[in-house]
Amino acid sequence: MIKNQPIGIFDSGIGGLTVLNEVGKLMPNENIVYFGDTARVPYGNKSELIIKKFSVENILFLLQEKVKMVVVACNSSSALALDYLNDIFRIPIIGVIEAGINKALAVTSGKIGIIGTKATIESKAYQKNITKKNKKIKIFSKSCPLFVPLVEEGLVGGEITEKVVEMYLEDFKKKKIDTIILGCTHYPLLKKEIAKYLQGVTIVNSAQEVANHAKEVLDHFELANEKKSKVSKKLCLSDESKNFTKFAKLFLKKAVAEIKIINV
Ligand code: DGL
Repeated sequence: MIKNQPIGIFDSGIGGLTVLNEVGKLMPNENIVYFGDTARVPYGNKSELIIKKFSVENILFLLQEKVKMVVVACNSSSALALDYLNDIFRIPIIGVIEAGINKALAVTSGKIGIIGTKATIESKAYQKNITKKNKKIKIFSKSCPLFVPLVEEGLVGGEITEKVVEMYLEDFKKKKIDTIILGCTHYPLLKKEIAKYLQGVTIVNSAQEVANHAKEVLDHFELANEKKSKVSKKLCLSDESKNFTKFAKLFLKKAVAEIKIINV
């Protein structure tokens, strides 16, 4: 494995750009290939079998791009396919769940709320992993299926979103959780609304945490790119997406170069 080979990141669509952003900020020397499976999004309401199949295909594409490691930015894939992927492939593959949990456990005083897609919440991946690490933690979880379309439609920051946030998080408020894990790629974009409704609750953004974890893994395998040459960020999608350019600007805070459409 050569150090200047890129890091591969995949998500079901555009949401994983939150992860790309954090990885790019933390490791500015790294080349990155991002793959968003816009032809087959959403993953969050699909079966385990299909999520595993899509995840394998996404990694096969990234391997053609000669990636040295893969960050599974999609929470639904991380919840249902990560172990399976690590059994199949030889390069390091990390997901977003472990990193988010470690951060939540470091800051909580005992009551954690988890939000995510139906696939993620029903898999109980977050719940089981938290209990494995600390049996005393009280865990509350809720799938929030309307959050992804709200974000995709740009309905962030309005009255409708505030009402939906209240509908989903009312119970967490009653239960007096002290920490909430944003267990879906899109949810960091609703952070303001969530923070406003759950005042005083610590918000854990898995995107930030997984970037730290990716760095640790690269350092561990001595794969970090130390050379300060010009880095490339390649963006690939499985279908054209009008939203993508708009979101890429929002997430990456700069104009986007070329977007390549590929077949998986
Ligand atoms: N990327 C997905 C996740 O983090 C959200 C969008 C989808 O359902 O595909 O779970």
